Amino acid sequence: MGLKRSSSSLFLSFLVALFLVLSNSAVVCNAGETSSFVRREAKSVDMPLHSDVFQPPSGYNAPQQVHITLGDQEGSAMIVSWVTMDEPGSSEVVYWKEDESSVKKYAHGKHKSYKFHDYTSGYIHHCTIRKLEHDTKYYYEVGIGHTVRRFVFTTPPPVGPDVPYTFGMIGDLGQTFDSNITLTHYEKNPRKPQALLFAGDLSYADNYPNHDQHRWDTWGRFVERSVAYQPWIWCAGNHELDFVPEIVTIFPIHVVVYNSFRKE
Ligand SMILES: *[C@@H]1O[C@H](CO)[C@@H](O)[C@H](O)[C@H]1NC(C)=O
Repeated sequence: MGLKRSSSSLFLSFLVALFLVLSNSAVVCNAGETSSFVRREAKSVDMPLHSDVFQPPSGYNAPQQVHITLGDQEGSAMIVSWVTMDEPGSSEVVYWKEDESSVKKYAHGKHKSYKFHDYTSGYIHHCTIRKLEHDTKYYYEVGIGHTVRRFVFTTPPPVGPDVPYTFGMIGDLGQTFDSNITLTHYEKNPRKPQALLFAGDLSYADNYPNHDQHRWDTWGRFVERSVAYQPWIWCAGNHELDFVPEIVTIFPIHVVVYNSFRKE
């Protein structure tokens, strides 16, 4: 009995604490309702392979599926990833601060590839650039030596108790016509999110026979237009598990946490 009473008062103080936390956070992060967008209910159809959003960039061995994510917990490093198809090419990233284009820096990365059933991936590059300044716009180039492509990102502000920074959030994106509308909608948000929290289930390639990995490549090309310019922070969903015991005995997981949406 005594035990029961003390646990219920404990529960009450928990509720009070929870209320305080929630009411406080309502003041601190007043996100409000940012959109009236509601996705239509009709079944979503995948965009066909010849769709504009899936087209690879032109040029010999041009880097494609370029994407960035945070490279440390302080916001002073960025991991740049991309895929080349013709040959490995360079895993180097050239980068510079917006206002110091004469001071170019170089970072060296690595590449790897993987096989899955009858699919062989391109050369998947990862390169971490470190010691970046906060709140700073950087240009970066990949494809050094072949077809060079240039992108830009801004680093987050220094870590602190009250730092304004706007996150977007997307989950279950896939590659349907509606996925494209969702991404367009995100890009047009007037609040200009600076990084995206991705809640898992990226490409839905596993909906295809033998989990057709080409649909990871199309997905990577589709989202490049956002993720090459601002970090997306990943978490894995069940669709990242390639459990197909009929064709592969060891099932790989697309490692989306931390550095890449590609298999490692
Ligand atoms: C995807 O959206 C972009 C931007 O709105 C548009 O330019 C493009 O044509 C769309 N592609 C498809 C296949 O819906």
